[in-house]
Amino acid sequence: MWPYPKIIAHRGGGTLAPENTLAAMRCGLSYGFRAVEFDVMLSRDSVPVLVHDPKLGRTVKGAGNVSDFTAAELTVMDAGNWFGAAFAGEPVPAYEQVYRFCSDNKLWMNVEIKPAPGFEQETGCVVAELTRRWLTADGCDADPGARILFSSFSYAALAAAQAAAPEIPRGYLTDAIRADWRAQLDELGAVALHTNQKYLSAKQAKAVTAAGFGLFCYTVNDPARARKILSWGVDAFCTDRIDLIGPDFS
Ligand code: G3P
Ligand code: MG
Repeated sequence: MWPYPKIIAHRGGGTLAPENTLAAMRCGLSYGFRAVEFDVMLSRDSVPVLVHDPKLGRTVKGAGNVSDFTAAELTVMDAGNWFGAAFAGEPVPAYEQVYRFCSDNKLWMNVEIKPAPGFEQETGCVVAELTRRWLTADGCDADPGARILFSSFSYAALAAAQAAAPEIPRGYLTDAIRADWRAQLDELGAVALHTNQKYLSAKQAKAVTAAGFGLFCYTVNDPARARKILSWGVDAFCTDRIDLIGPDFS
């Protein structure tokens, strides 16, 4: 049901490095993590880059929509200075760079497809097509899940990823679990449900795992809560506190 890593560094390095940067991936790796989650969005010229918010301003200096800038413009923007002077100049990375870094360092990827509003289908399609191409070039196409799991809050984005590269596994992200979760997972051919740990109950956890799906939670920063949800049968979770919850936490 869940042949993937159990503990995943959220946005690369959790709270210890600027999210969704190569510095964050290096940080996760330096803490011994073998799996990272990160967010991918399209630039104006349809190149996937790592960024969480659809607007500049919080982690990337500037203003306006990410989707109004080209990849060439975005990948020279500073995504590190907001976090600390030591990270000044750390750029917005292209997904391809991060894919390569993770592959070279044997870091498993939970690629969260994070479309800017209005670009749901295109984002799912482009991310899936590119990923398939890279996995094939790397000889990993026979078992894509050994390297990558897609997830998204966007049904349309995941459906587009499914159409473009059905062999790359998908998890459907939802805040609180909805009544129709089962039908949605089935339609998307998803292998797992990804949900907010805050709202999860033991009963829901049991229902999801008993139905044969993987169950992933975000974002678990309290070791006691982590132990509790694992005791309910949760398969995996991502954490911001990579200093408190290590890759071999149980
Ligand atoms: O993929 C899990 C988690 O990252 C979802 O929420 O907002 O941190 O991308 P967010
Ligand atoms: Mg995310």
